[in-house]
Amino acid sequence: MSIWTDQHQSQSLNQPIVAAAPGKVILFGEHAVVYNRPAIAVPVTDVSATATISPGEPGSGIWILAADLPAPDGKQGSHHYRLHDAPADDPLKASVELALDAFCQDEPIEADSPEPDVLVTITSTIPIARGMGSGAAVATAVVRAIGRYFGHNPQPGEISPLVYEVEKLHHGTPSGIDNTVVAYEQPVFFVRGTGITRLSVGAPLNLIIADTGVVSSTRRVVSDVRRRWSAETERYEGLFDEIGGLARLAKSAIERGNPIAVGRLMDENHELLMTLGVSSPELDKLAEAARMSGALGAKMSGAGWGGNMLALVEAERTLKVAGALRAAGAVSTIFSQIS
Ligand code: PMV
Repeated sequence: MSIWTDQHQSQSLNQPIVAAAPGKVILFGEHAVVYNRPAIAVPVTDVSATATISPGEPGSGIWILAADLPAPDGKQGSHHYRLHDAPADDPLKASVELALDAFCQDEPIEADSPEPDVLVTITSTIPIARGMGSGAAVATAVVRAIGRYFGHNPQPGEISPLVYEVEKLHHGTPSGIDNTVVAYEQPVFFVRGTGITRLSVGAPLNLIIADTGVVSSTRRVVSDVRRRWSAETERYEGLFDEIGGLARLAKSAIERGNPIAVGRLMDENHELLMTLGVSSPELDKLAEAARMSGALGAKMSGAGWGGNMLALVEAERTLKVAGALRAAGAVSTIFSQIS
């Protein structure tokens, strides 16, 4: 009997295990965070990814069913596939394998050991490639569910580094902010390479997340910034310093519960992101529409060139600002209160 079967039977299984993870938005400091400046990100629990692990037929191996996600390379149109057949850079494959390595082995497994017989079903309501942490949330849900299925209760500090490895497949050189905020499910003040600093929110922040409808490739935007930073290092270092300074000021404004100051800082951060060359006409138009309709502040969020724009509003202005954003071209608006 294989080690998989032993463990499988010891878990009083046949019960599917379900785990979820939230989306996220970056409130301050995207891009500069790649260059070791601080950034602030918050979980968005209004959207989520869910992974369900169910026992499969004996001998079936590991199967993935992910109808809401793009199929891995070479599997166009197929969202139901055997893990074994997926390419090595398939993020779902990596998530499952990293979780199995971390939580399902009391001893090293021989390369030719049979795999467990499970079906991994993934669903997600998080918009893809819009800076809302879809990849990190799917990986977190999978790692959490696999860990629990095999009798562990993985903690955020264990999940986050595994999800970081999956993020590398998505983005190349991620700062680590996405996996951190999603795995910890808490507002974070994040500095690359240092431990996590949780952020306490002094007064609720009412956010409208407005989707430009334009797909954004984090990898492409980040490498374009890298190219320009290499050509004009001093100038870009200066911009990153300014953005990092705003993130520090925002930390204390958020902790003090001063949304007016937070809104002003968002406007300033958006200006700097425009100067950095990562905004877009669609994002600028949404930010302007939010301000004109009474938002406290507005900025693009995530890698840029598309994706989402954030507006900070007083609760009673939510409908008005959301309406203005729709009129200015937003294809959807999500309301989220951060507390
Ligand atoms: O994945 P997104 O779109 O939320 O953007 C990531 C934020 C960046 O700072 C641009 C990149 C990174 O790794 O932090």
